[in-house]
Amino acid sequence: MNEMRNEFGRRFPKSGEPIVVWAPGRVNLLGEHTDYNEGFVFPMAIDAGIMMVGALNGSQEVNLYSLDFNAQDSFEVQEIQPSSEKKWTNYVRGVGQQFQLAGFELQGMDVLIKGNVPQGAGLSSSAALEVAAAVLMRALHGWDIGDVALVKLTQRAENEFVGVASGIMDQFASMMGRKDHALFLDCRSLDYDLVPTPFEEQGYAVVVANSRVQRGLVDSAYNTRRQECTDAVAQLQKDLPSITSLRDVTVDQLPLVNALPEALAQRARHVVTENHRVLTGIEALKTGDLESFGKALTASHHSLQHDFKVSCPELDLLVELALEVPGVLGSRMTGAGFGGCTVSLVPRSKVSLFEKTVGEEYLAKTGLQAEFYVFNASQGAGIRE
Ligand code: GLA
Repeated sequence: MNEMRNEFGRRFPKSGEPIVVWAPGRVNLLGEHTDYNEGFVFPMAIDAGIMMVGALNGSQEVNLYSLDFNAQDSFEVQEIQPSSEKKWTNYVRGVGQQFQLAGFELQGMDVLIKGNVPQGAGLSSSAALEVAAAVLMRALHGWDIGDVALVKLTQRAENEFVGVASGIMDQFASMMGRKDHALFLDCRSLDYDLVPTPFEEQGYAVVVANSRVQRGLVDSAYNTRRQECTDAVAQLQKDLPSITSLRDVTVDQLPLVNALPEALAQRARHVVTENHRVLTGIEALKTGDLESFGKALTASHHSLQHDFKVSCPELDLLVELALEVPGVLGSRMTGAGFGGCTVSLVPRSKVSLFEKTVGEEYLAKTGLQAEFYVFNASQGAGIRE
């Protein structure tokens, strides 16, 4: 961190004493494609994230420097437009604009950025960038705005400025995560509960495997899935007039879901059963029953694979190989899908074996070199002293 402060001083010699903030990425343990259906999610913030060092500069200009891209960019606060060349800056620009739309007066700043969340891997590097920018801007200007309002603001930046119709899970996890806890979030009310993760004390690790498949189709397919969920609700309302989202449909009502046209039945069935898995999975976790929690993870994968259809052969293979390693309790794709990562619950004593055997088999079958990370549940975004 001192290194970052020194680097900031070298790059922005005229700036005053800076503030340092950190925002983590996330891995979602359970509850996939449920957030925009007003359902339940269960992510944890990870010990990889974005660090930003910044100070107001007394001008109307925001100057950004990314150490990861070795790239500089500047924009005027009076007229914030998306950049087509330096897309990484749009997360910061978008957050700045959303503050303005919320009535805050944005001033010029100098900001140095460095991160270690693998990019394009479904671990929310972009949400971390947005949340870090928001926390930094709030601190530098001394604005009075609460954490949940900040989460909503960053989600609007993603939806309206960056143009990705994502739900609220990623930003929420990055902001509100807590060390050694996962976050049970009700995406309708935004009520949340921090649930202790007993993985380490029971001898297990959360191992994330990056398929290294570029998530090319993800934005268009994501929007299609959202639309299909909306369409399913419209059709189900004929029988269930009081529902407003798939969140309102219970597992007892699955016969009605199964009667929908096939694609809609599949999408809706995933969401309904996934919400149920989050609730039962968390109950199991609370009683220390990791085995049942692991089974919920694997069941979630199969539902995403066969019903929601957002997996891909490489993710399916990673899950299959993971489950062949002795002692692994569960495995699933995590994030939006179509590439990115899987998450598995692996005995700590078997992590090296897991990385070796899954990595080698995956390479032999796909020609791709998977990457592995062992993440701990971490503290959400904030100022770093
Ligand atoms: C992406 C989105 C989230 C969520 C997941 C799928 O990560 O940003 O809002 O919808 O996909 O669960």
